[in-house]
Amino acid sequence: MNIAQPGGRIAILASGRGSNAQALIEACRSGRINGTVVLLGSNRPTAPVLDRARTAGIATWAEDSRGIADRRAWDLAFLQHIAAADPELIVLAGFMRRLDAEAIAPWYGRMINIHPSLLPAYPGLDTHRRVLEAGDRVHGASVHFVSAELDAGPVFAQCRMPVRDDDTAESLATRLLPREHRLLVASVAHCIHGDIRLNGSSVLFRDRPLTTPLSID
Ligand code: GRF
Repeated sequence: MNIAQPGGRIAILASGRGSNAQALIEACRSGRINGTVVLLGSNRPTAPVLDRARTAGIATWAEDSRGIADRRAWDLAFLQHIAAADPELIVLAGFMRRLDAEAIAPWYGRMINIHPSLLPAYPGLDTHRRVLEAGDRVHGASVHFVSAELDAGPVFAQCRMPVRDDDTAESLATRLLPREHRLLVASVAHCIHGDIRLNGSSVLFRDRPLTTPLSID
């Protein structure tokens, strides 16, 4: 093991602001996760998350996915670059692209995603608005293993918070974000430390089947 890079090797994929990526980078630095972020990959070469990674001294790989004719070829090539960094775990943290099933298949059980809803409710976009429109009293975020279907792989951890009468989509997003950071850090720690793993389509927590997602609030 390289002394400068302790613990598990983590690659992060992100497309935008990168606050979740930043939380992971800091958790690795402080030892809350016994791991190292070995690469940050993005499909948006101007995404702010790339500057955050560079400032933290983390290697980056960025390639624009817009206007690509052959989506599968792009996804395969992109993940090949990520694989070259030899990560144990790939974390999608605000990665706004649905990857091709063939490209993600080799990573099944080693690729996780954070999604801002209590899955299986509200896969896809605009989750905060949809929660308000439905009149839900509780909102939250989920971390799940990535499978071929959008936001539908096995969920293993969630955080929850009440919806207030005066909430807007923006206020929900703002209040959820710090909870997402805690949820993602705890989830990645569980994966990297070997507490959580996938066995077929069942999640095991410390070698026992996990029947309901871990609650991380
Ligand atoms: C988060 O809400 C995440 O759940 C969603 O996109 C947002 C990304 O935020 N998929 P950031 O880029 O990590 O700040």
